[in-house]
Amino acid sequence: MKILGIETSCDETAASIIEAKGDSIKVVSNVVSSQINIHRKYGGVVPEVAARDHIKNILPVIEQALAPLSPRKSDPGVKALAVTRGPGLIPALIVGLESAKALAYAWQKPLIGVNHMAGHIYSAWLEQKKLPQFPALILIVSGGHTELILMKGHYHFKKIGQTRDDAAGEAFDKVAKTLELGYPGGPSVATAATKITSSKTQIPKIVLPRPMMHDKNFDFSFSGLKTSVLYAVQKDKKWQQRLSEYCAEFQQAVIDVLIFKTLKAAEQYKVKSVILAGGVAANLELRKQLGNKIKTELPSVSFHLPHLKYTTDNAAMIAAAGYFYQQYEKKKNNITVDCNLTF
Ligand code: KG4
Ligand code: ZN
Repeated sequence: MKILGIETSCDETAASIIEAKGDSIKVVSNVVSSQINIHRKYGGVVPEVAARDHIKNILPVIEQALAPLSPRKSDPGVKALAVTRGPGLIPALIVGLESAKALAYAWQKPLIGVNHMAGHIYSAWLEQKKLPQFPALILIVSGGHTELILMKGHYHFKKIGQTRDDAAGEAFDKVAKTLELGYPGGPSVATAATKITSSKTQIPKIVLPRPMMHDKNFDFSFSGLKTSVLYAVQKDKKWQQRLSEYCAEFQQAVIDVLIFKTLKAAEQYKVKSVILAGGVAANLELRKQLGNKIKTELPSVSFHLPHLKYTTDNAAMIAAAGYFYQQYEKKKNNITVDCNLTF
């Protein structure tokens, strides 16, 4: 069955058609119009500006996503529509929701309201040969969230840990601001970190904390780490010459904490699979190091990564989450909004 997904929770206007068969999901189209260039000059996303740009782009983006079908027909051939209902920026969400409601009404098709985080989780089902096994542990690392979720089956989520302050992506963005690297911070910090050379790793070595790493819970905290970078830079008159070192050590501190807690949770909950999802899952070092650690320390656990293009916000993941909601959750109750999520 084909599903149209729509996503406007932050600074990406996105629409996608997926084709689902059993648990296997093919992506027919995946259109993402990014507002990064608009928000760059403000150093972050301005909700009102985001909403105005969504209004401008939503119909052309949906039309482009529908192009492989029969977009101009009164029934283009989708079985249902799925739209992000939250969490996200309210003025931005409204644009996607109202557009989806109008189309669902015009086409007389069911509309499924999807939790954005469920979308990130289901990005690991898009165009994959090997699917995750349950129970699975998901590490979601995005600009707004950092969570460890135990998934015992489709739409069977339990949050076992989360950040107590900044999300991992938010910390990347704020550290990038401190280091004058611009917005969005994740990719620019990651790129700068790759430029580190052995000749630059001189005395005194930059050492940042690994917050909450050894606490007896699965929570995270990244606000103090971000502030440590600020204090270190304020004391270091030559910080610009050691930019790549600061980026590499900050990135490694985040990765160390994420990996340590994920492996501990995977062991404790005896999961069969680990999934890494969310915008920070685009970080190549995190992908590589988490994969290697699971392979060596938990060889019976499978590791699942969404394709790079599905890590940051997109509508294919929303369509997939809507599809699985319909398949598995709708049987239990008759509502079409996945409001029973525990996260
Ligand atoms: O999932 P996402 O697209 O939006 C939210 O739902 O928040 O995640 C965006 C976040 C931003 O904070 C961005 O800096 C971060 O993901 N990000 C990265 C990388 N690419 C994007 N963080 C670290 N390394 C990256 N390569
Ligand atoms: Zn997201």
